[in-house]
Amino acid sequence: MPSETSDPPTDGGDRDATRFLIDEALGYVYAGALRAAAAIGVADRLADGPLTVAELAGRTGVHADGLRRVLRVLATRGVFEELPDGRFGLTAVGRSLRSDAALSARPSVLMLTDPTLWRPCGEVELSLRRGGSVFEDIFGMSFFEYIARNEQTAAAFHTGMAAFSDQENEVIAGVCELPASGVVVDVGGGHGGFLLEVLRRNPGLEGVLLDEEHVVAGHRLDVAEVKGRWRLAPGDFFTEVPAGDVHVVKRILHDWDDEHCVTILRNCRRALAPGGRILVIDAVIPPGNEPHQAKAVDMMLMTAFPGRERTEGEFAELLAAAGLRPARIVPTGTVVSIVEATRA
Ligand SMILES: C[S@@+](CC[C@H](N)C(=O)[O-])C[C@H]1O[C@@H](n2cnc3c(N)ncnc32)[C@H](O)[C@@H]1O
Repeated sequence: MPSETSDPPTDGGDRDATRFLIDEALGYVYAGALRAAAAIGVADRLADGPLTVAELAGRTGVHADGLRRVLRVLATRGVFEELPDGRFGLTAVGRSLRSDAALSARPSVLMLTDPTLWRPCGEVELSLRRGGSVFEDIFGMSFFEYIARNEQTAAAFHTGMAAFSDQENEVIAGVCELPASGVVVDVGGGHGGFLLEVLRRNPGLEGVLLDEEHVVAGHRLDVAEVKGRWRLAPGDFFTEVPAGDVHVVKRILHDWDDEHCVTILRNCRRALAPGGRILVIDAVIPPGNEPHQAKAVDMMLMTAFPGRERTEGEFAELLAAAGLRPARIVPTGTVVSIVEATRA
């Protein structure tokens, strides 16, 4: 979250600059408070209207004094608001924290602030000094090994990832240019939220959902509209990818280093029908100083995964190394773009 003073001072002297940096250093406090509010379900309890802190503490089963302080700090960010009578209520932003909100932010907030992502980010310095991810130093194994062995964390990650993607899937599926017929393979497609949107919009297409067995087991493709047009492919994208006319690789490459990405892309290339396309859907880091969500996510990928967000040039190099040619980059109106590739 940005600090209290979101724009750096351009003049005003040392005192303003120092205060700005102190506020920046406190940024983690807001994320911690937001996680706590999401975890105990504050927004759900406020759905019917404002409550006193004592009422809210009683309904969420937490200490009233601590809750008042958490709500107070989040009110400075516009998540909740304190009314003149001392009760707290939801703002338009806070409503998105409700579990039943359309495109609820709650699962994404819980995923992004989960200790598996949070703790490595506290060790950016170690990652800088030594290079690479610090996940193994903290958890004793890689991220994906860890979540394969920890059911609760896996559920938080995959539910969070599905919700995170839900707010973009419909928009991205709307700008994907797809053939009238053929097979679309969603490589590492999670619970299938994106594939579902693609199949809904393209009645001539069939879909294959490739992901790890425990992940595809939680798929969301059992929808009448797409009945009989999909199949599950539990498997490992480093070993083999099912045949198709279009391979979607959405929010996958950013989890991995170049070597692993080339293996995934080569497997897609091998499984691609003649004239087929690979759609790499990931953020493309823009040049310059402008804020972009992917520049922050990149820190998370650096510390918890062997991954990174990439620039246009870095994608071109990766595709070339896998025997592919970038055809074009299509902006989607979300933080990610579609990097289209064909056989070189
Ligand atoms: C960041 S999530 C992206 C999910 C989905 N494509 C989306 O955009 O929401 C990465 C996905 O890769 C899957 N994955 C990781 N390693 C895999 C492997 N070796 N084979 C298949 N899927 C894998 C994970 O289970 C997870 O669903």
